[in-house]
Formats: sequence, structure tokens, C-alpha cells
Amino acid sequence: MTVKKHFYLTTPIYYVNDVPHIGHAYTTLACDVLARYKRARGFEVSFLTGTDEHGQKVEKAAHAKGETPLELADRVVKRFQSLWEKLNVSHTDFIRTSQERHKLAVQEIFRRIEAKGDIYLGEYEDWYCTPCETYWTETNLLDGNCPDCGRPTEKLKEASYFFRMSKFQNQLLEHIEANPDFIQPKTRRNEILSFVREGLRDLSISRTTFSWGIPVPGNDQHIIYVWFDALTNYISALGFPNEDGDFADFWPCDVHVIGKDILRFHTVYWPTFLLAAGLPLPKSVFAHGWWTVEGQKMSKSLANVVEPNMLVDKYGVDAIRYFLLREVPFGLDGDFSHNALVHRINSDLANDLGNLVSRSTAMLSKYFNGSLPTPGELEEIDCDLRDKFVRQIDVVDAQMEALAFNKALQSIWELVSAANKYIDESAPWTLAKDPAQQQRLGTVLYNLLEGIRLIGLLVTPFMPDTGASIGSILGLGPEDQLLEEHDSWGLLKPGSTVAKAAPLFPRIETE
Ligand code: MSP
Repeated sequence: MTVKKHFYLTTPIYYVNDVPHIGHAYTTLACDVLARYKRARGFEVSFLTGTDEHGQKVEKAAHAKGETPLELADRVVKRFQSLWEKLNVSHTDFIRTSQERHKLAVQEIFRRIEAKGDIYLGEYEDWYCTPCETYWTETNLLDGNCPDCGRPTEKLKEASYFFRMSKFQNQLLEHIEANPDFIQPKTRRNEILSFVREGLRDLSISRTTFSWGIPVPGNDQHIIYVWFDALTNYISALGFPNEDGDFADFWPCDVHVIGKDILRFHTVYWPTFLLAAGLPLPKSVFAHGWWTVEGQKMSKSLANVVEPNMLVDKYGVDAIRYFLLREVPFGLDGDFSHNALVHRINSDLANDLGNLVSRSTAMLSKYFNGSLPTPGELEEIDCDLRDKFVRQIDVVDAQMEALAFNKALQSIWELVSAANKYIDESAPWTLAKDPAQQQRLGTVLYNLLEGIRLIGLLVTPFMPDTGASIGSILGLGPEDQLLEEHDSWGLLKPGSTVAKAAPLFPRIETE
């Protein structure tokens, strides 16, 4: 019996006081692409997403609407869940911080750290930004306002439990230095290294000013700080404090994918909590950039929030998945514009990929009645095509391992171009005129369809529906579509029937 390789990846858990927009969809889709790729490479994947439901903001918003916080969360969580379904997201678990399994884990990790003497009761006084749920020191403030969101802060003094974060500064530093891939990309790693070198303060990890959250074990006057609560979701979903089962199989996590705005929480707070609790640290944290919209920051007040449901209805799910991962190098900021989206759909999808599939299958149907011929001897041009595919599959693999999704797509599109060029250079329509060239024509069409098969497997993690359509055109079953076992050249069976493809992507007409 072979033991399956395990892979665990997570999205951040989303606040329930916001409607999902393309920023949220982006993090989740990037994870989905990686999860699907890893599955195609034979891994057993645990892919977690969920919602971050506690805290003062949700409590206030609920009261303003005359609801309980849980009623509000129950309502909003559905928007996330239905969006993920619509976007074809293949998460294996969805955690809500209001669930009992999560409360058990949070209280247990709190208890463990307290038992080691690294949580103590003290008094807290600082400037608090309620919308960001963050305390700031006086020197952090910009004109008295929150340096992150610019909104007013208020001075708060309260009894609070503190986590002895300062004690773990050196241990964390050593870990980051010894593990170059722990924080990615490199610029983010450098940012955190200098932050930690400046010194870590102890962290206030409880509040007494609201009640919607998880009580401190043994003192329910205190609610555990939302970030201590939220970060623990990554292990509560694995059944922690039970350390057998999923926890044993999947922890430490392979990668926490996050946006750059929540880097410090994931690379300073979370690892030090884990160090204090005596638990292993995640293998890596990857922070991606932020999207602007038509050059501007997305915000409710500008009414420019891009709503993914609407995009999917208009352009189709695979086009949106493709665009978001193709347009911007993962890790950098990017801009969403309708023009750029339409351009990508028309040029990369309808033109390059769509035409490749439709003209190849149309020729096979016309010249061989849709029955795949047996290839004859390979000429140089055929060997070049084959070798390019074989080499490029390794290139794509390395890019996927590095979460360089846009580069991986670029590499796949080099194959699409190579196949299109192969058609132009081998000119099947000319070969078809000469009965003596019948075998040569068969070889060319076989090679083309074989290229399309591999392109189909490679695009599947990005565009699952498109990959499935290509698979069904070629008459492949699910067992033929696992990349790990089918990434070599020449696996299509001569004699099998290939359907004539309807256009995969309709062109979008522009005014
Ligand atoms: N609840 C916290 C995360 C807790 S994880 C233990 C949170 N939630 S969030 O809903 O505000 O954001 C979730 C993710 O969406 C973050 O990774 C954030 O970077 C991402 N995005 C929000 N707006 C974004 C853009 N405009 N562009 C790209 N991603 C953005 O933070």
C-alpha cells in the first residue's frame, strides 16, 4: 500500500461584516488552483477556508440591525459559501469561528500557553481602532488616526491578559533566518525580519469591552482577542486539541495564503503563539498583493467594489479564474479593469486556446471522421513540438511549486502558441489534398490532439470546466486526467473518437 502524500493549505477566514468582493475571491481562487494542482499531482489535499465571526465590529453591526451577532453571521456566511460554490472552489472544510470545535481549540491553546507561564494578567492602555480591531501606540498614529484605515482611534484602558511575545523574539528570528521560504515573497520576509529585529512587545490578548467572542478559560469577564481567536482556526479545523487524525496528517500546514495586509498577524503573532504552545510552525506563509479597480482603491464609499457574482454571470467562471491569476504576478499589486478582462478573454481564451481546439477537432472530423489516426514516423518539427511539451511540463511544475501562477499560465500559453504554430507550419489542409500524404496528415493531427490533451490537463486547476470540456472532447475518463500519471507524451489511443468541439469561449463584443 502506498502512503498518500499530504498537503494542507488555507485561505484567511473572512470577516462577516463585509460582502465578498474580488479581493476575497482572489485569495480563495489562488488557493483553489494550488489545491487542484496538488491533487492532480497525487497529493491528498486538505484545503480550508471559512469565516471570522467574532469581535466588536460584528457585535455593533448586529445590534444596529436588531439582530444577534450569530444571526448576522448566519446570514452573511451564506454569501461566502454560495460564492465559493459558484466559483468552483474545492475546499474540503469550511470553518466558522462561532463553532464549538473552534472554541475548544482556542481555549485549549490559551490554557497551554498560560500553563507555561507565558500569559499573565495586566493592564492595557493604548489607542484602539475599532474597525481594524487593532491597538496602536501613540507613535504609530497618523494625526491621531489609525495608520491603516485613517479612521479615528480611541484611548482605551482595561484589565487584560498579556501574551509574553517579547520572550519569543529571538526564537522567531532564528526560525525566519534558518527557513528562507517561511515568509514569501522575499520582500515580505525582509519587511518582517526588520520588524522583529526592532523588538517585540508583549501582546494584549483579551478584551472586556464586548462579549461576542470566546471567553478566557476561568475568567469569562474577558473575551479572547479576535486575532488570537481567528488564527487558531487553522488548527481547530484539524480537530486540535485532538492531535491524532487530521492534525497528525496535515499539521504543520504547507502554506497559509494571505493578503499582504495581514502578514504580521501570520508571521509574528501566529508563530509565537505556536512556539509558546509547543506546537510546530507552518511551513510557509505567502502574502499576495492587493487589487485596485480601474486604478483606484476599492471602497464602499467610491461604490467601485467589484462583485464576483456579477462577473461570473457576465463572463463565465473560468474566464474570471483565468484573468485573476494571469493578469498579475502573485505577490504584487494589480489593477482590475474591464478592458483588460475583455482583452484577455478575447485574445488568450477565445482566440489562442479556443481556436486551437476548434480548428484541430474540426480537421480531425473532416479528414478522419473524428477517429484518431495512428501516428507514423516523427519528423523534426514533430520532435520539436513533443520535446517542448515535455520540457515545459517541468517548467510549469516548478512555477506552481513557487506559487508563480501567472508565470505558469504564461508557460502553458507558450504551448498553446507552439501548437498553433505547428498547425500553420505543417499545413494539414495542404497535406489533405494529396492522398500520398495521408499518413503524414494523420501524424500531424495525432500530435496536435496529444498537445491539446496535455494543455487540457495543465489548465484544469485554473479552469476546471474548460479542462473537463477538453477531456470530454477527447473522450478521456477521469482516470485519464490525473496529471501525475498522464504527463508524458503520446498517451492518446489511436482509433479513439474525438468530438468536434463547440467554441470553448465566445468572443466578447466590445463597443
Ligand atoms: N478576518 C481576517 C483574516 C483572519 S485570518 C486568521 C481578514 N479578513 S478580510 O475579510 O478582511 O480579508 C481577507 C482577505 O482578503 C485578506 O487576505 C485580504 O488581503 C484579502 N483582500 C481584501 N481586499 C483585497 C483587495 N482589494 N485585493 C486583494 N486582496 C484583498 O483580514
